[in-house]
Amino acid sequence: MTIQDIERLRAELEALKCKTEKEVEEARVRLLGKKGEITALFDEFRTVAPELKREFGRTLNELKQAALEKISALKDSVCETQGPGASGVDLSMPGDPFPMGSRHPVSIVREEIVSIFRKFGYDVAEGPEVEDDYHVFEALNFPPNHPARDMQDTFFVSAGHPNPLLLRTHTSSVQVRAMETMKLPIRVICPGRVFRNEAISARAHCIFHQVEGLYIDEGVTFADLKQAILLFAREMFGPDTQIRMRPSYFPFTEPSAEVDVSCNICHGKGCNICKGTGWLEILGCGMVDPNVLEASGIDSKKYSGFAFGMGIERIAMLKWQVNDLRHYFENDMRFLGEFASAPEV
Ligand code: DAH
Repeated sequence: MTIQDIERLRAELEALKCKTEKEVEEARVRLLGKKGEITALFDEFRTVAPELKREFGRTLNELKQAALEKISALKDSVCETQGPGASGVDLSMPGDPFPMGSRHPVSIVREEIVSIFRKFGYDVAEGPEVEDDYHVFEALNFPPNHPARDMQDTFFVSAGHPNPLLLRTHTSSVQVRAMETMKLPIRVICPGRVFRNEAISARAHCIFHQVEGLYIDEGVTFADLKQAILLFAREMFGPDTQIRMRPSYFPFTEPSAEVDVSCNICHGKGCNICKGTGWLEILGCGMVDPNVLEASGIDSKKYSGFAFGMGIERIAMLKWQVNDLRHYFENDMRFLGEFASAPEV
């Protein structure tokens, strides 16, 4: 190797021009690759006379450095002149789709109901889905063999036991657990899944969701119940919403009522959603029966309270006019995608 070899390569390097990225890569391999010309000079360096090593070493290092810089500059310039694609990457290609999930309509409505009652100062409680007969029926004033038990067809997990395990048929069981464990006064809502032995159709399902509400304090009256439900209905369905209460029967409340809201589609004129009545049923409620308070150790002479329970799918059906319950359980992506833009509550 002579200094001329190095200078020749240096001159070659300075004159080097490339049009494509492929040419740049070829030049890199020719000069700096494993068998490249500059690499070969480094291999030959061993044979240089000791007194020349210093100067050779320096020039050789400078050459390698210049080669690295030149290759990198050439790479940049071909990318610029060739535009996107020169590097094999088409920067104008649309990105890979990244499908965004969205909340289920039942979750959207549950969160909306929960957030409304939280604003009213209610806590949130949950209870077990596999419950015992005591919490689902007995403590709620359904005596054994009481015909009211037939109102809800029950899935039993273990039958033939004095307190059999079953899948809860309503979230009212959680109000019993709340009365057993929480300090008075109690203001709580209990969202959750419930199960009934029903044939699946557009109007009935064996699994659905409810929200139970319970308020117990000294001096709570039916007027408080009415006000709470009215405020809820207006938050949920709009400020002009009216409510109406119809007398009803539940074993755990006395008096009991069913609540309708004015139809927010036809504003009371009558349409096919409200079946021409102008009203839509949304929940059941009433004053907690003294027997229920006493069963959970609450002094019914001192305390009174109200309870209410509503179906989440029912509210969702009214909100979006989706009148087939099965849609909420089939998880068809075309249906669920319809709720992707529902606002956060
Ligand atoms: N548990 C009832 C049901 O599933 C709903 C209900 C009605 C709950 C009246 C209540 C109430 O708390 O007071 O049909």
